[in-house]
This record gives sequence, structure tokens and C-alpha cells, in this order.
Amino acid sequence: MFENVSMKDLEEGRKYLMSGSVGGGLPVLIESGRGSVIQDIHGNEYIDCTSQAWTYNIGVGHPKVIEAVTEQVQKITHVRTSFETVPKLLLLKKLGEIAPADLKKISFCLHGSVANESALKLAITNNPHGMKFLAPFENYSGRTLATIAASWPYHPISRLFAPYMEHYVRVPNCYCYRCPFTLEYPQCGILCAEYVKTMLERGVEPVIALILEPMQASGGMIPPPEGYLKRIREICDEFGILLIFDEVQTGFGRLGAMFACELYNVYPDILTFGKAIGGGFPLAGVMQKETLKPPEPATDSFTFAHFPVSFAAACATLDVIREENLLERAKKMGDYFTSRLKKLKNIYELIGDIRGPGLMIGIELVKNRKTREMANDVCHQIVKDSVADGVIFGESKFKGMGNVLKIKPPLVISETQADRVLEVFEKHIKKHTERLAEK
Ligand SMILES: Cc1ncc(COP(=O)(O)O)c(C=O)c1O
Repeated sequence: MFENVSMKDLEEGRKYLMSGSVGGGLPVLIESGRGSVIQDIHGNEYIDCTSQAWTYNIGVGHPKVIEAVTEQVQKITHVRTSFETVPKLLLLKKLGEIAPADLKKISFCLHGSVANESALKLAITNNPHGMKFLAPFENYSGRTLATIAASWPYHPISRLFAPYMEHYVRVPNCYCYRCPFTLEYPQCGILCAEYVKTMLERGVEPVIALILEPMQASGGMIPPPEGYLKRIREICDEFGILLIFDEVQTGFGRLGAMFACELYNVYPDILTFGKAIGGGFPLAGVMQKETLKPPEPATDSFTFAHFPVSFAAACATLDVIREENLLERAKKMGDYFTSRLKKLKNIYELIGDIRGPGLMIGIELVKNRKTREMANDVCHQIVKDSVADGVIFGESKFKGMGNVLKIKPPLVISETQADRVLEVFEKHIKKHTERLAEK
């Protein structure tokens, strides 16, 4: 269908695009991909450390996914949510078997934001006396009207939506490298968690739930220090508020465990998932504790939510994660990257902090290790320049965090590809180090 496309036609099309997407601006017109590599329309190849918004955990175009999807599209592509299909029931079985702890009731939709909206509604259903939600600073839970409110409230773009954000109260995040209380872990006594307790004790508004990413991704790539999530769980229990883990990014292997809650051994009441589950097809959803009241169907139903093509892709994706031992692989390759990056940190002052775990790597770049002045411009330039070297890095552009470079490739990335990524990263870090030294 797209064989005889002219550049002029494409240019014409580009003119009509409404703005609004993020992470763009790189001159790559994608045509195809396999594994950890994507290819542009001119045949140039790039190792993709963004996994296309952190979705291709099993790699681009996995043959098993392609096979499952091809079979499904030939049968039927859309079925209303009130009907059953074989892929739907099989996926429920597979997910039910791996769902952590007692989070065994599952619903579906097509976007992480919508899954989070469902989780918020579910929390209201189960805690109808509350009025407010809690969310950490720079949390990211999506961009629908309700979830943008749980995302970056202090970014100028969010000001516009501020009137709709009044159901959220922000709590400090567990950002040890830039502690909101300027304390040091563990002497801090995990004050960021204790602060939540103080708020619940002294705040006047009843709280429904606390929503957080067990590893805060878009807002800085911030893993929780040991003990933080456990303390948060205890505090939520003490005050009878529900705990929602947004595992849209962390689910399905990226941290070296199927879910972050398993890695950290702390379990929420409600867990949301998305992104990687679909193996490149849209799918998201909610897992809730069996003891919670389920939502009324009329409060949570979407036309395309039970998309059988995505269900078939997700069944294949879960099989691939298991058969190819990708949890182990994420751990192994994550260690490979981080140990090499730590060596680079000993050489280059620009590298302020390296965070994991698994293939959820954030490199915080600073102009000065003592002052920790953020090197946003360096980060942005490295991401831009690396494209010409065949590597696409991720970048955290939002408030205060624009200095975090992300390495979150498909879990199937090979050592040779990892070496190339590190080689390109070092080339550019070296160049910027020399440039800054000349100033
Ligand atoms: C942690 C987290 N939650 C929710 C979302 C929103 O997912 P979606 O873009 O599929 O709506 C994202 C997307 O980046 C995310 O990273």
C-alpha cells in the first residue's frame, strides 16, 4: 500500500498534524524494526533505547506476536466488551496466574492513562468517604484530564489544567539524589514517607488513595530507597487509604521482575499496567485485590477496550517473556550497562548519578558534582547527536528533570548492541566534558 509514496505527499501530511506529542523532534521517519533496532525510511538503523515509549520489552516485531496477531485479524478484529472471545479468556488466565499477591481481578482498556482513571474510580467506589488523592511530586500517571492532574502539576503546561487538579495533594517523592528535605538516606529516617503520615494525621481532607509509580519513571527515573514502599504501605493501612501502584512502565519485566511490587516485596491494593503487555499493540488495564468491590460496569466500559488483536498479542508476549527468560535477561543486561556506566562515572564529572534497576536506567547529568547543577542542555544535545550515530536515547524533559538521559531498550538487547550504545554515549560525554573544560 505504501510502496510508491513520495516525500512530497509525506511533507503535505506533516502539515496537518496537531501538536501535542512529546519525545519527538528527532529526524527519524520510522518504517520498520526488529528486536532492539528500528529502521527509517532511508534504510538507516538505530538501536532504540526508548523501546518506543518503553513498550517493546520483547523487541520489535517478535515473530510469535506477529503470528498470533495475523491469525486473529483474519478471524475478527473488534468485539464489544460485553462478549467473550478466546484470546480474552486465555489472557485473563495467563494474567491471573502471574498477577502478584491477591491482585486477581483484572480489567482492560487500551491506554495507561485510562487504566489509571479506572483505578481512581475503583478507589472512590471502595473509599467513598474520601475527597482527595495523594501523589508524589513529579509523579506521572498519564494525560487524560484526571491523570494529568496526577502528573506534573508544577510544570508550566499544567497550569492551564490547574483548576481540574484540585483533587490531588502532593507529597514529597523519595528522590535521594535531590532529597526534598536535603537529608541523607538512611539517617533521614525516610522522612518523605513519614511526611505522608503527618499529612494524614493533620490534614483536614479525607484521602481516598495514594497513587504512585513504584519506580518513578518520567519524573526523573527515581527508584525507591529500601524501606520507603514498605513504610508507605504501613501508613496507608494505618489510615485506611488505598494504595495504587502505577506499573504502566514497570510491569512485565523491565526491572528484572515481572512487576516492581514483586521486586520490592510491597503490594498495592490496585495495580495498573499497560505498555509492554501488548508486545507493540495497545493494551492496558487494572488488577485489583479480590476483596475490593469491583466497579459497576456502567462506570468503566470503553468501546474498543477488549480488542481481541491486542489480547492475542499479549498472550504471545507473556509466553515470550517466560520462554526467553526475559526477566533474567533484563537483570543481566541491566547489570552489564550499569557496571560499565559506573566506570564512566569515575572518569566523567558530568555523570552525577546512575540509577536502575534492570533495564530502567537513568543517568543524571550535572555540570558540577558538588552543586549538582543540572546539565539539561548537555542531555538534550547528546540525545540529538546520537541519532547520527545510530542510537536513540530517551530524555526526561519535564520540570527539573531534563537532565536525565534514559537507557530503556528492549530486554532482548544483545551485548554487542549494548557496547555500541555505551560507545556512543561515551563519545558524546567526552566531547561535552572537553567543551566545558575549554570554557
Ligand atoms: C507510569 C505511567 N503511567 C501512565 C502512563 C500513561 O500511559 P498511556 O500513555 O498509555 O496513556 C505512562 C506513559 O508514559 C506512564 O509512564
